[in-house]
Amino acid sequence: MASVPAAWTPAARRALPAMRAWRAAFHQEPELSGEERKTRDRIVRALDELGIPHRTYGDFPAVVGLIGGERSGPVVALRADMDALPITEATKLPFQSRYPGRMHACGHDVHMACLLGAATLLSRSPRALRGPVKLLFQPAEEEGHEGGALPLIERGCLEHPTVDFVAGLHVDPSLPLGRIGWRVGSAMAAADSFKIVIRGRGGHASTPHQGPDAVLAASEVVTGLQALVSRVRDPCDPVVVSVGSIHGGTRHNILPDEVTLEGTVRTVEPATRDLIEKSLRRRVRSIAASLGARASITYRRGYPALINPAGATATVARALGVEFGRDRVVEVVRPLMGAEDFARYLERVPGTFLRLGVGTENGRASLHSATFAPDERALVLGAATLATAVVGLQQGDR
Ligand code: NI
Repeated sequence: MASVPAAWTPAARRALPAMRAWRAAFHQEPELSGEERKTRDRIVRALDELGIPHRTYGDFPAVVGLIGGERSGPVVALRADMDALPITEATKLPFQSRYPGRMHACGHDVHMACLLGAATLLSRSPRALRGPVKLLFQPAEEEGHEGGALPLIERGCLEHPTVDFVAGLHVDPSLPLGRIGWRVGSAMAAADSFKIVIRGRGGHASTPHQGPDAVLAASEVVTGLQALVSRVRDPCDPVVVSVGSIHGGTRHNILPDEVTLEGTVRTVEPATRDLIEKSLRRRVRSIAASLGARASITYRRGYPALINPAGATATVARALGVEFGRDRVVEVVRPLMGAEDFARYLERVPGTFLRLGVGTENGRASLHSATFAPDERALVLGAATLATAVVGLQQGDR
């Protein structure tokens, strides 16, 4: 039988002024990955005001709160990321960033406000809880390689009490305001990076026959990499290989000794990730060798693919449908090729990562853009969604 709706929405509406104030404060003082100290202090003050016990981690600017720690039922952790991006804001919002080159352009300010909103609802309705709720405020999601999730897990955020389920959300401008999106299986990509140095022999550009030409070999590598996307794996299994930077040479008539390429690889299936890495190494070496040049390759693995397990995701989707009506709860058809270190929690604990619709007629600016300004009304649904996910996961499918 489906669980009875707890009707979090009216309480979330009452919490909206506080959530807006938190969000504006975070937004005005954005901090880059690993530097979220003011943000942390603000969260600590908010949890103090809500009477929620919490702990911090010295130099590592995370905060972990605990609601209902005395309860013995399933432990659910909710996670919000805290960092901003090195972008100069151009939204003209009244609470626009005070700092050039720093902006909450990925909505992490909204995520934190939603989590504080959910904490408000859950801490004021202790009878709705069967077990404890952990609040994970995590820095450095945007860092891309180690990220902030792994160091927070290493510091024990999934223990004492041991977390049974984890849930989180991300704002999504491609989903209309008022909708919440879910997906079973691969929801976001694994993101790896590579650096390729092609070595030839430099010399006068009028005598290219005298040595391997690193510029020509690098050009063929850039083109040849696209065959990994089109000819190595199943076309229905998405892969992105992009070269984002290419450097070599000093002027028009000198051939350089070497050219450096840097790029990213995105995959959603773990087996495909292994295949593309292996194929990339082989192909780059053989293209360079065919022109007499040598290639050295540094391949660095970033976040793994975010894979939502079927059981917990279905439980949450069902609870959300009961709470908000099924027309507002949307199954997302395609994964996003962006990456998210929430994947690290899901490697250890079942749970789900949801998308919070913030798309409006004039608010469709994409994530990571200088004009990204999600509609604040989404805070109500975001907070109510997290509270609903907790209750759904703690009750299970009864
Ligand atoms: Ni983000």
